Amino acid sequence: MTEFIHRFEPATSAHLPPLLLLHGTGGDENDLLGLGKMISPGSALLSPRGRVLEHGMPRFFRRLSEGVFDEEDVRRRALELGDFIADARKRYDIAAPVAVGFSNGANIAAALLLLKPDVLAGAVLLRAMVPLSDPPTANLAGKPVLLLSGQADPIVPASNSAKLAALLSEAGARVDYKVLTAGHQLSQADVTLARNWIGSVDAKAA
Ligand code: MLT
Repeated sequence: MTEFIHRFEPATSAHLPPLLLLHGTGGDENDLLGLGKMISPGSALLSPRGRVLEHGMPRFFRRLSEGVFDEEDVRRRALELGDFIADARKRYDIAAPVAVGFSNGANIAAALLLLKPDVLAGAVLLRAMVPLSDPPTANLAGKPVLLLSGQADPIVPASNSAKLAALLSEAGARVDYKVLTAGHQLSQADVTLARNWIGSVDAKAA
């Protein structure tokens, strides 16, 4: 199996979906633990570190330049992450997680949804882009997805996040797509919207 350096924090409340926390470029397994606790207090948290290094900065897949992805690597790394999640579910006895990904972490979560739909119970995609130019036909029937984009994001053009929302909806996901008055960085609105969404979504129904 493919091991990822990771943190795991067990649930402190039953019946809440576990969260899979996926950091942005240059982050690590500690980055999003605080965010996870804010948006779903009591959920189990599984937080891997991306295995690709770009000038020493961890990421979840290789890119050729800003916004231009090595798609073969995206596919390979998404499958590796899927295997890690399957193993971690057995090791820690947890249900399928809801991914909470930021930036590069949101992009690998989107790739995982398209390539291995059963691995995730749903996803919160913060500043995500279309990860694959020629994605397979995925069946995401009923899968809940929250996609939050920044209107002034210099990295993710509005047309790109709109395309991702359309792609996931066409595959059957229940997509909640909002464009916030924000840039690439997260804002308080992201936290509030994600918390309300997680509280309302029935990830087990996905
Ligand atoms: C990516 O490479 O996944 C996106 O450009 C976001 C980033 O990490 O800067």
